[in-house]
Amino acid sequence: MSVTKQKVLFVCLGNICRSPLAEGVFRHYVEAAGLSERFVIDSAGTSNYHIGDPPDARTTRVAGQRGIRLTGAARQLRESDLHEFDYVLAMDRENLANVRRLANGNSVKAEIKLLREFDPEANGSFDVPDPYYGGQRGFEEVQDMVERACAALLAHIRALQNW
Ligand code: 4NP
Repeated sequence: MSVTKQKVLFVCLGNICRSPLAEGVFRHYVEAAGLSERFVIDSAGTSNYHIGDPPDARTTRVAGQRGIRLTGAARQLRESDLHEFDYVLAMDRENLANVRRLANGNSVKAEIKLLREFDPEANGSFDVPDPYYGGQRGFEEVQDMVERACAALLAHIRALQNW
């Protein structure tokens, strides 16, 4: 029997730091739960700055210290993604506004949200801050936020799907 897959897309600016991290973390949790066959998981950037690039070495290092391997090459978000995916999760409000702008006022399939709307420790601050120009500490904070939010996102989808 074929199962309907839940399609989840993470979006940041460059698709080399935050969104490939969220993709890798979410996939890690999905695999640990034995649910890989039920998901399509991807990431994209709102900009064209880094198309084709692998995830940033600093992001990859911090993720690797937590046992999470990052793969893939950056691609730019396209309008069709909004009709293809069930969830489009933006890393910050600027990305969110750009995702919404791409929808151009049309209704789309995707539920478009900030990832940290799922972070139980967000405390009213819903952005995953851009770590690109900061130090090591910023990458670790981003990792913590993304781990919390992705765990809660998976729990949310499992509850809705009765998985
Ligand atoms: P990301 O981080 O959006 O988390 O992938 C950035 C990557 C590159 C740039 C900015 C943010 N940049 O300006 O090139």
